[in-house]
Amino acid sequence: MSYAEVYSRSLADPEGFWGQAARSIHWEKPWDRVLDDTTPPFYRWFVGGELNTCYNALDRHLEAGRGEQAALIYDSPVTGTQRTYSYQALRDQVARFAGVLAGLGVTKGDRVIIYMPMVPEAPIAMLACARLGAVHSVVFGGFSSGELATRIEDAKPKVIVAGSCGIEPGRVVPYKPLVDQAIALSSHRPEHCVLLQREQAPGTLVAGRDLDWAQAMAGAQPHPCVPVAATDPLYILYTSGTTGTPKGVVHDNGGHAVAMHWSMRHIYGMTPGEVFWAASDVGWVVGHSYIVYAPLLYGCTTLVYEGKPVGTPDAGAFWRVISEHRVATMFTAPTALRAIKRVDSGGEFLGKYDLSGYRALFLAGERCDPDTLTWAERLLAVPVIDHWWQTETAWAIAANFLGIEQLPVKPGSPTKAVPGYDVRILDEEGTEQGPGRFGRIMIKLPLPPGCLTTLWQNDDRYRDAYLSVQPGYYLTGDAGLKDEDGYLFIMSRTDDIINVAGHRLSTGAIEEVLASHADVAECAVIGAADALKGELPVGMVVLKEGVHRELAEILAELVGLVRAKIGPVAAFKQVTVVARLPKTRSGKVLRGTMKRIADGQDYKLPATIDDPEILNEIETALRGIGYARHA
Ligand code: COA
Ligand code: AMP
Repeated sequence: MSYAEVYSRSLADPEGFWGQAARSIHWEKPWDRVLDDTTPPFYRWFVGGELNTCYNALDRHLEAGRGEQAALIYDSPVTGTQRTYSYQALRDQVARFAGVLAGLGVTKGDRVIIYMPMVPEAPIAMLACARLGAVHSVVFGGFSSGELATRIEDAKPKVIVAGSCGIEPGRVVPYKPLVDQAIALSSHRPEHCVLLQREQAPGTLVAGRDLDWAQAMAGAQPHPCVPVAATDPLYILYTSGTTGTPKGVVHDNGGHAVAMHWSMRHIYGMTPGEVFWAASDVGWVVGHSYIVYAPLLYGCTTLVYEGKPVGTPDAGAFWRVISEHRVATMFTAPTALRAIKRVDSGGEFLGKYDLSGYRALFLAGERCDPDTLTWAERLLAVPVIDHWWQTETAWAIAANFLGIEQLPVKPGSPTKAVPGYDVRILDEEGTEQGPGRFGRIMIKLPLPPGCLTTLWQNDDRYRDAYLSVQPGYYLTGDAGLKDEDGYLFIMSRTDDIINVAGHRLSTGAIEEVLASHADVAECAVIGAADALKGELPVGMVVLKEGVHRELAEILAELVGLVRAKIGPVAAFKQVTVVARLPKTRSGKVLRGTMKRIADGQDYKLPATIDDPEILNEIETALRGIGYARHA
């Protein structure tokens, strides 16, 4: 079948389409209805069905004879370690860790927060939660104790599973003190913390509350899979919202398993038994979907890589991993390719490795600029596929389809809507836009299986943030267009989200931190273009009257404050003082105009600005920190 046929069938008969796809999953009890659409705008997939996601990802493959196949390869250049787990070994570790959690009182529906670096124990902990029907919430290691505390407060975990440290090139980041601080900051107190001790920086155990991973595992009994309802939550993943309070995106068990499995074949063109590598982090949605769940549900081998694209030890790191572990398909963010290109644009490192089994490179997390795309295509001589998705969807909304039909690539476009997603471009009044016309990108409800079902214990915020702008549609928060061939172009966000090295950050959340400084009267944060990371946050602050301290000291405090409250991942290093901020008459700060100034682009003088001098002041201030330079 062609892409066009598959796509139109998915929209014409979603129940038939997804009902058939769901046969690839093992169900403890079949569903009563494929799609429950009785309470719009909330939709539920496979209602009445029961399954266990961990059973489908591990045990099922043992029964099918894959026990000896590698399930997970751990490759850690930062520690000089490699380890391979067969499906049998991974299942045994997961079952045992499920026993540890059960021994601590974790049962179906309880939450467990996981704060770990890229070690196999992170997926083991995630799958152990799934085995028990508990709900995991993984927090990326680059977030600070403040962000961790916000998540503890919202998810109310019974247990936290942590690694004692993360290893960044050139520095060890102790995680345990951050966990202790986060627990102290939060009004909710988890009952226990299970700590994976790493020799680079072991953590101190709090007596009565904390357990050592290795000791706990030694004394635990394997726990069987607990069937859950298809509609029960599998995980919560917090992502940036428009305020400092992140959104707890909830993904269910049934629809998620079906979508993950379907995507491996139809989008990525994989065959069970092959090696799939997503060079991301388990703390992001890409890591949830394509390091942990999809490859294992599909019977592939997955890779947990603890390293960077460059510097661990060199710009050939990705090519070494692909060649050494016979990776068939790899997935990363364009920023990682830009980092490699910057050091090795001629691909000298690539020449050292045999990439004969390597078939395709998938990119996501940010728009792939055409330069990077064509550079990678030329270098690798395999299809390079930009695909577009979000934490909320857990899998691609637009992609190219190696397992259906490979459509011609248009640089700058993530190609066409994935089957199941009815993507429309609407203007502010809700009128659908024709080919080539820019607008809000929305998805007509229902969303396909796998996408978020709500925000954790907050249906109202889910409805308000995503479903209320245009009744009957999901608001992606992205803006762009569809061309005459149906290709989507994702151009910008309609909210305050910026994309830094493929990581999603809220400028509003950074502004909240800056505004909390005693000397700051008001502030604005914009995402300025950056050749490596796509965007970088840049702050502009107006100081309170009467503040006469050393400016450099205040600026260093502001940088330190963002690092302490949000984390190093915010990459917030540039901030400058201005006398005033440009605003509309109603007081709205003109961030868009400031971004254009920072990026050295032409801008129109907004009609609401009476005094154009204010924009010259901003330009001078931005020039002082290396921005606002015309190409
Ligand atoms: N734990 C603790 N700190 C972390 C961390 C973690 N897990 N991950 C990142 N950090 C720190 C970094 O050390 C850095 O700290 P610094 O300010 O002291 O240098 C800071 O957070 C910013 O990290 P990052 O934006 O990743 O920058 P980088 O300079 O370390 O690396 C790239 C740049 C491009 C190599 C890197 O961002 C990369 O590989 N990106 C791939 C993108 C990706 O995986 N996206 C996920 C979606 S697919
Ligand atoms: P996250 O939820 O962190 O995965 O970030 C999702 C956001 O990243 C999307 O809403 C887009 O703004 C952006 N994004 C992700 N992938 C792409 C892509 N392929 N092209 C353009 N933008 C993308």
